[in-house]
Amino acid sequence: MFGITKEQFLKAFQYRSATRAYDPEKKISQEDFDYILELGRLSPSSVGSEPWQFVVIQNPELRLKLKPVSWGMQTQVEDCSHLVVFLAKKNARWDSAFLRQGLGRRNITGEQMEQVIEKYKSFQEQDIKVTESERALFDWCSKQTYIALGNMMTGAAVIGIDSCPIEGFNYEAVNQILVEAGVFNPEEWGVSVMATFGYRAKEITRKSRKPIEEVVKWIK
Ligand SMILES: Cc1cc2nc3c(=O)[nH]c(=O)nc-3n(C[C@H](O)[C@H](O)[C@H](O)COP(=O)(O)O)c2cc1C
Repeated sequence: MFGITKEQFLKAFQYRSATRAYDPEKKISQEDFDYILELGRLSPSSVGSEPWQFVVIQNPELRLKLKPVSWGMQTQVEDCSHLVVFLAKKNARWDSAFLRQGLGRRNITGEQMEQVIEKYKSFQEQDIKVTESERALFDWCSKQTYIALGNMMTGAAVIGIDSCPIEGFNYEAVNQILVEAGVFNPEEWGVSVMATFGYRAKEITRKSRKPIEEVVKWIK
């Protein structure tokens, strides 16, 4: 439909590999990185909440501050072309101004808005049960950021750009460093996950995956 074949898309998936060594001389162009960010912005999210912010950390001093508390990107944090911190929204409860504003953007007004909010209430309280703790509510938003993360990494691979998702860091310390640097308001946002992007410095050995029979179950 869009001129991309299945074979080409599969090739991009096979090419994408968690990249631990980046070529420090090769930087992603502004145009290409804008494309990657746009893939994040266009990603789907539960009830269309878009509970994310993508913070691109290009400041070398700030990257160095993150290094000692980020065991999972020791070999990447300085050499990667772009480092993205995915923030997830805090307190995105059914009655929050945040979700209301999201509905406003979709031109839902008045009575309709109240009906949708009642639906969010039963969804969050009874179905998915995320209002039981602040952590559960944050994790629900954090889950949405991983969809954007996946789309950005795949979209990057399609144009030959490498990436690595990063969970290998001390969350408390990274939150603290970024808050102290004035990156975000901790009342509103928290760090969900990070990702590095750039160009691989060397070949990466083929990925190993479980056989399809082990991961797919058909119920007919
Ligand atoms: C959510 C998530 C967090 C990850 N965190 C790290 C990390 O901190 N450091 C790292 O080097 N790799 C990290 N990885 C990469 C995985 O180890 C890698 O994706 C996995 O071994 C499969 O390899 P492949 O991506 O090359 O296919 C992470 C992957 C995911 C999905």
